[in-house]
Amino acid sequence: MKHWHIDQVAWDRFDPAKVDPAVVPLIKAAAMVERNGRDYAVYLNRVFADDPDFRAAADYWAVEEVQHGDALGRWAMLADPAWNYETAFARYRAGYQLPLDAVASVRGSRTGELIARCMVETGTSSYYSALGDSTEEPVLREICRLIAADEFRHYKLFYDHMRRYLSRERIGVLRRLRIAAGRIGEIEDDELAFAWHCGNVSAGQPYEHARCSARYMARAMSFYRFRHIERGMGMIFKAVGLRPRGWLSDLSARLAWRLMQWRQRRMAARLAA
Ligand SMILES: [Fe+2]
Ligand SMILES: [Fe+2]
Repeated sequence: MKHWHIDQVAWDRFDPAKVDPAVVPLIKAAAMVERNGRDYAVYLNRVFADDPDFRAAADYWAVEEVQHGDALGRWAMLADPAWNYETAFARYRAGYQLPLDAVASVRGSRTGELIARCMVETGTSSYYSALGDSTEEPVLREICRLIAADEFRHYKLFYDHMRRYLSRERIGVLRRLRIAAGRIGEIEDDELAFAWHCGNVSAGQPYEHARCSARYMARAMSFYRFRHIERGMGMIFKAVGLRPRGWLSDLSARLAWRLMQWRQRRMAARLAA
């Protein structure tokens, strides 16, 4: 059972006058990445081949992620009737593939895999919270809140399984921290940048990674407020085994917030030039 269904969204409340044009390209790109969740479930099923409980949870998780993509895609087509979600996603699928033939986690351990999943859910929960808090458009606000609630639950799901594996694999805090930082750094890889390209650059144009990544990041970061970073930092700390609330988490959140603002300004200035 999904926690909500796409048909429960009050689509008839869509108000084109309240659409912020800056958010539309972000929603188009996010729809691609979310829809691709099913592939990730295939990979997780291989990595956790002898763990039927986790495999069932991963399949259920993927159904929710695909629904995120479908809801965002549907909203983007209301905001931009000339845009087609299915066509854009087909382009994304054709050019971006996850390593589905893996037999072990690319993170070196199952605990590591689950920490990486916690980082992704930290990122998505804070992102949809930030987008939902900033938009005036009632349907997008509703979708973002529903999706963010799912992403917080996904974090808890992966966190609980991670604790189970941690008691077996006994990976130290420093290694967990390195895995978490590594996954956060991957935010500028092709997964998001290519989604931006497929969602927003007309077919036939070459894919320019650096440009797409900068466009996505500069715009996405502009929607965050400190409270989103603060909460996300607590989740990162918890996932790696550090106290989620305390001076170190506070300081890290403040530094991350400064760094994000600085990078956002720098990227925006570079793109404008
Ligand atoms: Fe999602
Ligand atoms: Fe999620």
